[in-house]
Amino acid sequence: MCGIIGYAGKSPCQNILLSGLYALEYRGYDSAGIALLDNERFTIIKSRGEVSRLEEKMKAFQASESTLGIAHTRWATHGEPGERNAHPHKMGKTALVHNGIIENYKEAEPILAEKCYTFCSDTDTERAAGLIDLYYRETGDPLAAISRACKKLRGSYAFAVMFEDRENEIYGVRLGSPLLIGVGDGESLLASDTAAFPAHIDRYIAMEDGSISRIFRDGFQLFDMSLAKIKANEQPLTQISRGAHKDGYEHFMRKEIHEEPAAVLKTLAAYIKNGLPDFSASGVDTSILKQLSSLHIAACGTAMHAGLFAKFLIEKFLRIPVFAEVASEFRYNEPIFDGNTALLVISQSGETADTLAALRLAKERGIYSIAVVNVPCSSIAREADAVIYTHAGREVSVASTKAYTVQTALLSLFALHLGSLRGSISQKEAQKICFSLSRELPEKIDEVIAREDEVRALCHSISQKESAFFIGRGVDAHICAEGALKLKEISYINAQAYPAGELKHGTISLISNDFPVIAVSTQLCSAEKTAANVREVASRGADVYLIAPADFPQDGAKRVFALPKAAEPLLPILAATVTQLLAYHTALLRGCNVDKPRNLAKSVTVE
Ligand code: AGP
Repeated sequence: MCGIIGYAGKSPCQNILLSGLYALEYRGYDSAGIALLDNERFTIIKSRGEVSRLEEKMKAFQASESTLGIAHTRWATHGEPGERNAHPHKMGKTALVHNGIIENYKEAEPILAEKCYTFCSDTDTERAAGLIDLYYRETGDPLAAISRACKKLRGSYAFAVMFEDRENEIYGVRLGSPLLIGVGDGESLLASDTAAFPAHIDRYIAMEDGSISRIFRDGFQLFDMSLAKIKANEQPLTQISRGAHKDGYEHFMRKEIHEEPAAVLKTLAAYIKNGLPDFSASGVDTSILKQLSSLHIAACGTAMHAGLFAKFLIEKFLRIPVFAEVASEFRYNEPIFDGNTALLVISQSGETADTLAALRLAKERGIYSIAVVNVPCSSIAREADAVIYTHAGREVSVASTKAYTVQTALLSLFALHLGSLRGSISQKEAQKICFSLSRELPEKIDEVIAREDEVRALCHSISQKESAFFIGRGVDAHICAEGALKLKEISYINAQAYPAGELKHGTISLISNDFPVIAVSTQLCSAEKTAANVREVASRGADVYLIAPADFPQDGAKRVFALPKAAEPLLPILAATVTQLLAYHTALLRGCNVDKPRNLAKSVTVE
């Protein structure tokens, strides 16, 4: 998703901004641009495609000594991803970069046209720049102009704004999309993400929603929308929030899969005391958990698949209904918050706009909210009533892997916690599962990763096909949903997940020898039924790749990945790691850009 970086300081900032853009690349984008202010004149350079193309283009210009500038990576929402729609957009004396969406931007057009503004792009951003410029012309006051424009604009956005006749300052706005201030010695920065800050910046402020900042060489000021000054909450910049390195791996995705054992170990250690789950560090209100008569879950994409996994376990352990819904649909389906309920949101980034919107809806209705989040101080982490952090470390690859594995492990522990709190699981049983999750799981994931070559061997034939099914029953169906998403997202194979028993009600008509089937079977209770489904598709010509324990029925399968011997609750999580490796190697064989799949963004900050 779009990335913003801005610099006001004492050093020439061209390279600082470029490095910031490189660090923001992982978010996903299709064009980039920069605006530098020198002697009351903007130099604006934009380019379609990679930041390296922008850098190349900048070489044609004389190196700038400017110490004030803004830059941007754009993920197209309004208008094709070309140069004319790339940011920054300049209107009059105002240059602006933007992350998010302005829903009512059309309303600005007649107002601006009447004042003789003309448009050079199809973007909502240019209209916002126009409004700010118009009000700046009328008031001569940047803060008043920004606040007045923001009152007219509807949507969810973050801006960095410069004015041609203001050589010392940049303005930031946060209304729905994240924006941070980096604090340095004689310099201040604005960025969408801490990764964009240079290494020597060791403090930052996450701007509050509905706030405006003014940053300059010697510091910054923060205001609310009515321009009253507000206090800043400074945070240290930790290692996890810094830029990431591949550490010798060819791709972030593979590196992150290899980090899973350590990430699971670290995360679970934070929530286990004396061999039992203990979530007191998260601040979750135990009395609310004890009274729950139902639970809602909202999340997106991979995090949603972790949510479905959690639904399965919580319903099994607690026998209360759990309603899991993709966050983008949550509010439109008008959730019924009956009895003693709560909302659990799950998000790696903590910035996903749809998930944040679901959280805010629940909060408006007075519903207790718990967030499972990986990024400290992210918007979701700050707004939820209680936060259970996954300690997965930074995840850069657009395709989420270690975050999912850690989420499923942590949510298993949380479900266990709920069960033991409410007496539906005995202390002894809880201790046993707790041990398996915290000790056995990291070792077994390691074992799976050590057999990466075996997974790669399954991929040659799959990589030559254009479609695939993932089938499984019960909890395995949720692992399949995630496996199919991973394969689709990075290899562009049209992979669909189906409950194994559902195929014969229609979609089995697609089966042919060009349609491989990946079957996941980890639970004894459904092993025979899934085996029958494997035979059904195999006898209709499909090549079946079975992921299952060695002693489960295997007839009909062309190839089998035998899961390591492990406690049954761990097996689905191990199968998930196999499907991640399978997606990775299949995508590589197809020559895909694994870490940056087309059209996708790491952090989806628009609804
Ligand atoms: C995962 O591979 C995807 N890129 C995507 O589905 C992601 O999980 C989703 O956008 C939610 O992100 P979040 O966990 O940061 O909220």
